[in-house]
This record gives sequence, structure tokens and C-alpha cells, in this order.
Amino acid sequence: MKRSARTVRTVVTALATAATLAVTGCSALGGGEEADLQIYTARHYDLEEAFAAFTDETGISVEFLSGDDAELLERLKAEGDSTPADIFMTVDAGMLWNAAEQGVLEPVSSDVLDAAVPEDLRDPDGQWYGLAMRARTVVYDPESVDPADIDAVDTYEALGDPQWAGRVCMRDETASYTQSLVASLIDLHGREKALEIVEGWVANDVQIMSNDVELLEAIDAGGCDIGISNHYYLARMLEEDPDFDVELFWASQEGDGTHVNISGAGLVEGTESAPEAQQLLEWLATDGQSAFVDANHELPVNPEVEPEPLVASFGEFDRMPVDAQAYGALNSDAVELLDEAGYR
Ligand SMILES: [Fe+2]
Repeated sequence: MKRSARTVRTVVTALATAATLAVTGCSALGGGEEADLQIYTARHYDLEEAFAAFTDETGISVEFLSGDDAELLERLKAEGDSTPADIFMTVDAGMLWNAAEQGVLEPVSSDVLDAAVPEDLRDPDGQWYGLAMRARTVVYDPESVDPADIDAVDTYEALGDPQWAGRVCMRDETASYTQSLVASLIDLHGREKALEIVEGWVANDVQIMSNDVELLEAIDAGGCDIGISNHYYLARMLEEDPDFDVELFWASQEGDGTHVNISGAGLVEGTESAPEAQQLLEWLATDGQSAFVDANHELPVNPEVEPEPLVASFGEFDRMPVDAQAYGALNSDAVELLDEAGYR
């Protein structure tokens, strides 16, 4: 193994079509000296600092290729044995489950990871591990929403209540964030009830936003009063502007708990750097947890690690257990249900 100087390079490549994938092949990450570990990652957040700290501590250099979850998975499959990737990192539990189903991941047996990552946030066979947690919850404009009304929004279903007609913003139907939330509703309540919930949002003329930042800005600007967003986007806005006027409410505290999802990773089947790759996952779940999750204001998966102060200021909450299999296996049902409800 090469112990080269600290190398953390970001290679952002447009991962357009399968045809492109075949052409770019395994040279995409190369471009000269290869790092010890190559990561395909769907995390669109600051990764450099955490990986640089890992390299400083261990001498193991890391390089990553960023792209969309589904595109990176397709790329891994297209590249097969010749893939340069050692680790596949996603931002959705369903996608991790999918990658394992499709046979691109290699199981890891690690007492360190088993101790650090709660059971529902990892694969029972060690094919993937959640490394950061994100909550998808209710956000609202405190200027236009009565505190008594917000307390009544205990469930995701409540956003279909007529009092929110014309006031709700949500994320588009193509986002894995939306699809996994709906998959979790199908899992919890059954298809019929989940359809009723989504139809309630649609009946309220939900405005669909193409990303969570746009959604939060719309609430701040008065374009809508209430919506659903990942918690870390609000933390990011508040970090940039402490006067940003949107507040967070932990959904379903009386019910099933706030919906959470994970960003996690697994070793790529056939990697020649399995020990180093395992070492990186173990580090990310323990000594490197704070560096990894704090940069993006996520929640630690490791219960021994405290969230950073801004996230901690949102208060503690009960979360829904993560069922990666349900999010993955029910994904197409969720997409179909959204379509049937007219959510677009
Ligand atoms: Fe995100």
C-alpha cells in the first residue's frame, strides 16, 4: 500500500449515461498517482476535512468521486471487477439496501462498527453501515404560524389538515428524501393510509420545491408557511444567518417518531484495500464521527457522540426506527403512490 503524502482530491464528474460510464471506465479517479482508498460518494457536503484528518492520523490517502446515488450504483455495476472504487457511500438507507441486494458490496465483520452503529442503522450481514443521521421534519415560519397550531402538527399527516391549505411547501417527487419518507409511511400505515396522507397534502395545493434550501428560503420569504426539510439544511442557513426566520418542529413525537434517514457506506465487492477501507469506516463511526457529521450539521449515529451545538439547540427528539429494507423494497411503490396521488 502506498503511503503517499496527504492527498484528498475531489473529482466531480458528470455521471450522465451508461454509455459515458463505459467510456470513462476506471481511469476516472486516476489522473496520475492513485490514492490508497477510492470512494464513490453521493454526499454533496464538505468531505475534505474529515478525510484529511483520517489521512493525517493513519497515513492512508483518500480520493473521492461525487455523484448521484443511483448513478454511482449504476457505475459500480457497469465497471464490475475493474472498478477503482473501494467504498460506496450514499445518502439514503434504501439505496444502501439496494446496493447490497445487487451484490456490489462486500460484508465486513467488525466489533468496532457493531458497537458504534445502532442495529437498525446497519446491515445485519455487515454489508453497509450508517455513519450519519438526518431527520426529515417540519419547518415553519414563526411569523405566520400560531404556536398552538404547530403543536397540533404532530404527524406528517397533519399537513393535510385544511388549515394548511395553500400554505405547505414540500420537496419534489424525484428526491430520494421524499420517496423514503413516503416508503416509511407505507411501511408504518399500509398503502391505503399512506395514499390518504399524500392525497391530503395534494388537496392542500402543496407547492413542490426542487431542493430543501429553496424550500426553506420560500418559508423565510413568506412564499409558504410550513414544510418538510432535512434538519441540517436549516442548521446550515442559521449558521450563515442567525436571523434566518424559520423554525424546526420535531414531527410525530406523540406517534411513531420523526422520520430519519442515514448516510452510510459499505466496502465495494472485490476491493483490494479491504483492511484500509474497514479502518476508514471504523474511524468515521468513532474517532472521526464528529468531524464527519458536524461539517454538515448531521446527527451522529454513535450514541456516545454528541451532536454539534447548533443541532443540539434544536432539542432532543424520538426518532422512527430506520427500516432500510422497507425504504429500498417499497421505493417503487412510493414512486407509484406519489404519482397516483397527483403529487408533482
Ligand atoms: Fe442533502
